[in-house]
Amino acid sequence: IQTEALERIAETNEMKELQAIRVTYLGKKGSLTGVLRGMGKLSKEERPVIGEIANRVRESITDAIDRKNETLAQQALEKQLEKEAIDVTLPGRPVQLGGPHLLTTIVEEIEDLFIGMGFEVREGPEVETDYYNFEALNLPKDHPARDMQDSFYITNELLLRTHTSPVQARTMREYEGSKPVKMICPGKVYRRDTDDATHSHQFTQIEGLYVDKDVRMSDLKGILDVFAKKMFGYDREIRLRPSFFPFTEPSVEMDISCKVCNGEGCSVCKGTGWIEILGAGMVHPKVLEMAGYDANVYTGFAFGMGPDRIAMLKYGVDDIRQFYTNDRRFLTQYHNA
Ligand code: PHE
Repeated sequence: IQTEALERIAETNEMKELQAIRVTYLGKKGSLTGVLRGMGKLSKEERPVIGEIANRVRESITDAIDRKNETLAQQALEKQLEKEAIDVTLPGRPVQLGGPHLLTTIVEEIEDLFIGMGFEVREGPEVETDYYNFEALNLPKDHPARDMQDSFYITNELLLRTHTSPVQARTMREYEGSKPVKMICPGKVYRRDTDDATHSHQFTQIEGLYVDKDVRMSDLKGILDVFAKKMFGYDREIRLRPSFFPFTEPSVEMDISCKVCNGEGCSVCKGTGWIEILGAGMVHPKVLEMAGYDANVYTGFAFGMGPDRIAMLKYGVDDIRQFYTNDRRFLTQYHNA
C-alpha cells in the first residue's frame, strides 16, 4: 500500500487528484483504513506489530500528501504571479495634455502687467442691462453713438454686453463715489458683426479705469507707454490721436510703432509705421457723476483694448476666427507661448 501510494503522490500534479489519493488510502473506506479496522481480528501478539507498521505507513502517506500539497500550492501561486506580472519597463500610453488658449495666455500676461502697477482685476456679467452697458456710460437711449456697437438684445432692457466698460460703471457704483478706483476688467464681449478675418461676433476685451483725485492725461500716457513696451518690446513708441467715445472727454486712440523685419531688411507697418492698438481717454464728468463721484474732486482715465488684436499682432495670426473655431492644430502651437 505504502509503495503504491507514495508513487501515485509523486506522479500527480493536480490538487484534485491528490485529494482523491488521500481518500483512496486514508478515507473512511480507504485501503489503509481497512487494514486498521481489521486489527480486531488479529491475535494479541500480532496486533502491536501490525499496528506499528500500519501507523508508520499512515504517517508516511500523510506526510507525503502534505508535502506535495505544499509544493502544488507554491507552484500555483508562482503561476498566478507570473500571469499577473506588470512589465514596468513597457512605455506608457501617451496622455493628451491640454494647454492654455493663446487668448488666455495674453489676457493673463496683460493682467500681470497691470496688477504690477496697482490695478485690481474685476469681472462682471456678460448678459448686461441696457443701463450699465450704455446709459451709465453717457449713451442715452436713441443716442446715435450706440451705432458704434451693434448689439445683440435679449429683451428691451437686456443685451449681451458690447464692451467690458459696464464692469467699470458697476465698480464705481460699488465704491460709492468716495474711494479711488484702479481696476482692469477682462472678459468676453459681443457685437452684431459679420464674421470675417478681422471681425468676430464674440471677442475679448480688457478695459482699465483709474479714478482718484488729480488723475491726469499724462498718467494715462505713462501707463500706456509702459504697457506697450512691456508687451511688445522696449524699442516701441506710442502715439495718441484724437478720437471720440461718448464716455471719455477728451478721447484718444493709441498707436504703437511697428516695423516688420525679414531676411531682406525691415519695412514699416501699413506704410505708416504705426498700428492702432487701443482706445482711451479721460472719464467724462457725466459718467463720474452718474456713478456718484463728484467730478469737481475726482478725475480719471479709462482705456480699452482687444487681446485678440494684440495676440494677432504679437504672433502673426492673420484670422481672428482661428481663436474661436477650436482647431487643435492651431491651438496647440501656442500652448507654451
Ligand atoms: N469701451 C470702448 C470700446 O469698446 C473702449 C474704450 C474704453 C474707449 C475706455 C475709451 C475708454 O470700444
